[in-house]
Amino acid sequence: MKNRKLGRGVAVVGTGMSKFGCFPGYTSRDIFVDAYKELLSTVDKGIDPNDIEAFYLGNYSSDLFEGQSHLAPIIANWIGLSPIPAARVEDACASSSVAFREGMIAIASGLYDIVLVGGIEKMTDLPISEVTDTLATAADIPYEVSAGFTFPGFYAAMATAYMHAYGATLETFMKVTMKNHFNGSLNPKAQFGQKIADIMEIKKASALKKGKSVPQWENEIEFLTDNRANPMIAWPMRLYDCSPVSDGGAALLLVSEDIAYQFTDQPIFVIGSGAASDGPLHARSSLTSIPSAKLAAEKAYEMAGVSAADIKLAEVHDCFTIAEIIATEDLGFFEEGKGGKAAVEGLTSRKGSIPINTSGGLKSKGHPVGASGAGQVVEIWKQLRGQAGNRQLDGNPDLGLTHNVGGTGQTCVVNIFERR
Ligand code: COA
Repeated sequence: MKNRKLGRGVAVVGTGMSKFGCFPGYTSRDIFVDAYKELLSTVDKGIDPNDIEAFYLGNYSSDLFEGQSHLAPIIANWIGLSPIPAARVEDACASSSVAFREGMIAIASGLYDIVLVGGIEKMTDLPISEVTDTLATAADIPYEVSAGFTFPGFYAAMATAYMHAYGATLETFMKVTMKNHFNGSLNPKAQFGQKIADIMEIKKASALKKGKSVPQWENEIEFLTDNRANPMIAWPMRLYDCSPVSDGGAALLLVSEDIAYQFTDQPIFVIGSGAASDGPLHARSSLTSIPSAKLAAEKAYEMAGVSAADIKLAEVHDCFTIAEIIATEDLGFFEEGKGGKAAVEGLTSRKGSIPINTSGGLKSKGHPVGASGAGQVVEIWKQLRGQAGNRQLDGNPDLGLTHNVGGTGQTCVVNIFERR
């Protein structure tokens, strides 16, 4: 594999994110405004929006979710950026990471100096059956969906294979849920920003208020094992193993390295980027890893000249709890088959050897699919700048990674960021 380098360096100098959640009555363009306004406020030395030269927007399916296509120029116009070029980028749940790469490559090529990258999805207007069908269009329709598969089903198959191969149990997955809900409880923008223990108390109080019998869960595992509190969605994935259906947007300001310090004294540089594609899940030889993720990681590490051991924190694609475990192996943080054990031992917690999803991840923060990749960059950017508030990691981290999967791994993008 030829070692690829960017033609010139690229830095992120501003980021913004809307709250993730369920926002009836708001369209994607309204939600994106929140992210964009916050981005403008984070550029330390200011940015004149007239200097933004192009807009790349990650969006999975505004057509089906909202009945609105051609979203990039519509949003560009809504935020006052017409007539700059505005392109929508679609690669399922990896849409905004692919948009990020397009913006990065455009700057690295010398075509532009200042680019806005966004991600947006408004999923909650449809009933859940239609959301599920819309998400399923990211899979192989004739060979997978027509056979009855939906996304919870795909990841359930991966979880079953992982349990069979490595002896993981339902409790292994629950540890990921508990960790990500704990992390999300530190994130005011998270959709489900409560610890599992707090959710238990809310449910007990609600039962008491309604005059129903109050459940007596002793601990979080008992709650997560209770079929009424945590029903099975697709065995072995229960409700709390799934990322939610979400509305949300995120925005990133990318500039060329040579002008980065005009915007801030703390630019965050993109030092490695890798992407790969693959065929559908049913055609793969293994269900316990994602080949495109391994390849994207390999390319990103090679470009950055670092290894997995150098990374201080990562935001990974935990659309289901099993996905986080597999991601930590594909990225080389743990050997194959050891990611589940690492989660159980707390190695991926805030105090662990490699903190994973300090934002709460897609599980707790939310998963507005087209915005999730850009949202991951927001978290890494804040952590590397020491601006993550009460979820700021100790130790002044200087290298962070994002890992964003489209579908079951037909697309994967891995990016590595550095504070110098
Ligand atoms: N995690 C935790 N709680 C959740 C949740 C989630 N993912 N999704 C919903 N809830 C809660 C709701 O707040 C609600 O709580 P309440 O009863 O206290 O008010 C309850 O669970 C039921 O919510 P509801 O909206 O009716 O759930 P649903 O059955 O419509 O949807 C899933 C649940 C799991 C089916 C849905 O979240 C889903 O499809 N997730 C996966 C999305 C996906 O595939 N994304 C792409 C990945 S590649």
